[in-house]
This record gives sequence, structure tokens and C-alpha cells, in this order.
Amino acid sequence: MAKPLLAGNWKMHGTATSAAKLASQLADYTGEKPEIMVFPSFVSIPAVVAALSEHSEIAIGAQNISHHTEGAYTGEVSGQMLAGTGCSHVLVGHSERRTYNAENNELVAEKFAAAQASGLTPILCIGETLQQRQDRLQLQVIKAQIAAVIEKVGLQNVCNAIIAYEPVWAVGTGETATPEQAQQVHSFIRAELGEQGEDTQLLYGGSINADNAAALFAQPDIDGGLVGGASLEAEHFMNIAQQLIERK
Ligand code: PGA
Repeated sequence: MAKPLLAGNWKMHGTATSAAKLASQLADYTGEKPEIMVFPSFVSIPAVVAALSEHSEIAIGAQNISHHTEGAYTGEVSGQMLAGTGCSHVLVGHSERRTYNAENNELVAEKFAAAQASGLTPILCIGETLQQRQDRLQLQVIKAQIAAVIEKVGLQNVCNAIIAYEPVWAVGTGETATPEQAQQVHSFIRAELGEQGEDTQLLYGGSINADNAAALFAQPDIDGGLVGGASLEAEHFMNIAQQLIERK
């Protein structure tokens, strides 16, 4: 069975100083925790790495990666740069990047490959839009999003990564998938991965908070969460982490 994992996507919030403070607050929590991962903005990563230097149990990742290894790509950040800064993980294909930066399945697959080539573990974010769900296309959309990455790197490499199901209509909207809706997609993803994906960590993301977390985490194929808004406050995030540890 996959290990419980809670990831915080801090998006474009705060400064290096506030990110380091938040990281230190998380590190102060003692007792049993799930695997914890934080995703600050690029410029805050060094400050968070420094703040967590004695807390290797909290992993640090980036929110994006270039699909290029190096060269004349102004404004881009490579996997090698991220790994050299102390990142172990990176989000690829977050719905905000798919929407605002026109990242399609093929580009996401290239970013996924670039991450693994640099020794980073990608968190592949997938999910359908509201229109696609209304048209009952969610499983087809999910299948195509995963298939593009499998085609690029092979099934085993996808299984070695982490997958986050984040329905676009639930990200940052305050509207969460019901536990049943989330479980249906998660079990579909698990089936797509087959036997090799039995231990692959499958996260749910989209307006997780302290009130809805327990019911989501009680689902058999939900191994944890990718939390946006509720990860910006240490107490709220660790409350969710506690619910993941205590899940039924
Ligand atoms: P949210 O964001 O929890 O604020 O909906 C989730 C995410 O973007 O990963």
C-alpha cells in the first residue's frame, strides 16, 4: 500500500522570508506525521532549504520545470538547477499551468521526463475541467493525460512518480469533489497503472481543508493530498496532516 503523503502547493504567495517562516513552523510539529512536502516559489526555495536544513523529513519541491536541459531559454529553470538548489520533487502539469501557460499533454510529458532525468520525482497533476465533467468525459481526459506521459517515459517511470488528481473545477474554488467522485477517478488511475502501480502515491487535490479532508482520506485509493490555500497556514495544514495519519 502506498504511504500517506501531504503536499503543500504555496503557489505565488508570500516572500522568501514568509516562506522560510512557514517552513519552520511546519518543522516545529513533533509527533507522528505523514510524509510532508512543500512547494514554494522558485525564489523562495533557497530560504526554505535553509530553514529545513535540520529537518530532512520535509521534502522540498518546485512548482514548475523547464523541459529543456540548458541553453538560451530566458526565464526558465532547469531540473539540474532545481536539484542543485535542494529540491527533490517538482509539480508537472498543474492545472493553472495547463490553463494560463498553455501546457498540453505532450509538453507535460517532456517536463516529466526532464524531471526524472535530473533525479527529481515529478508529481504529475491531472484532472478534467467542469465542461468535461458535465459531458461525462472525465475518465477519457484522465486516460489521455496519463497515456501521453506513459508514451514518453514508459509505464514503470510513471509508476515511480506521484500522481495528483486535481479536478480543475475544484482547484482554488472552494468546491471539492465528493469522496465518491474522487475515489472513482483514483481507482480508475490505479487500474490504468496496473500491478506496477500498486504502491504509487495517488493524491487528491482541489479545495482540501480541515472539514473535508477526513472523508476524502478515508477512500481506499486516496493516499494523501495536494493542498493549495489550506497549506498557507501551518496549523491548518498540520490539522489536515493529522487527519491523514488518523484516517480510517
Ligand atoms: P487548492 O489548490 O487547495 O487551493 O484548491 C490545490 C492545488 O492547486 O494544488
